[in-house]
Amino acid sequence: MAKSIAQFENVGLRYGTGAETLSDISFTLDEGGFYFLTGPSGAGKTSLLKLLYLALRPSRGLIRLFDEDVVTLPRGRLPGFRRRIGVVFQDFRLVPHLSAFDNIALPLRVSGVEEKDLFEPVSEMLAWVGLADRSSARPATLSGGEQQRVAIARAVIGRPEILVADEPTGNVDPEMAARLLHLFDGLNKLGTTLVVATHDVHLLSRVANAAMIRIDGGRLSDPTGLLKNPPREPRRRRDS
Ligand SMILES: Nc1ncnc2c1ncn2[C@@H]1O[C@H](COP(=O)(O)OP(=O)(O)OP(=O)(O)O)[C@@H](O)[C@H]1O
Ligand SMILES: [Mg+2]
Repeated sequence: MAKSIAQFENVGLRYGTGAETLSDISFTLDEGGFYFLTGPSGAGKTSLLKLLYLALRPSRGLIRLFDEDVVTLPRGRLPGFRRRIGVVFQDFRLVPHLSAFDNIALPLRVSGVEEKDLFEPVSEMLAWVGLADRSSARPATLSGGEQQRVAIARAVIGRPEILVADEPTGNVDPEMAARLLHLFDGLNKLGTTLVVATHDVHLLSRVANAAMIRIDGGRLSDPTGLLKNPPREPRRRRDS
């Protein structure tokens, strides 16, 4: 049986004093799984991802990550957990005055990797996302799809165990969306657990073994069905 990497139990989230934005959210993510999180605009996808990557704490319920209760985790231990989760934000959040190279290098610099040891891994990531020739470009001079790929490279360079991507194909054409998905699929095959929020129903059919988590109005729309683990048969290439 697959090992679980994240568990939500009866999680609720309230911003301020209003009604709950998320209610009664329970699911389990298996290590190595590929999950799409879908639902209409305002359903609570970004909010749910923020709970998962520890940017927010729930108002109620239990969240376990990597076998530990993260709701009661002491603040000092949060950075250690966050390093194990890569995030591609809905709005990229690239640092405007830094080049593509330096944006991608950021997580390594933060974790104390020496300058002489940066070139190789960052160049490898630039090549992986097809931007080897844009290394010195600043975000403002890159197209939306190129910025998105820099954001993906930055999220992946620290070799996270979970990669969370919020609408990673929101700003790109269908061909680029397929390329990005191919990168995610490759990462997933190397063992990274993927959680991808998207409106794009075409994407959902492109990953053979992906499971779908659907929320609507802050609740899971199929609280039983989506908990099933994706089947683990060998995959066929979609494009052959
Ligand atoms: N910081 C906040 N404070 C108060 N309300 C918020 C905050 N962030 C989100 N919300 C509200 O929570 C609800 C869910 O928002 P969320 O961003 O999670 O939706 P979403 O499914 O990601 O939408 P989209 O598809 O448009 O990105 C919305 O009604 C939104 O207005
Ligand atoms: Mg969102």
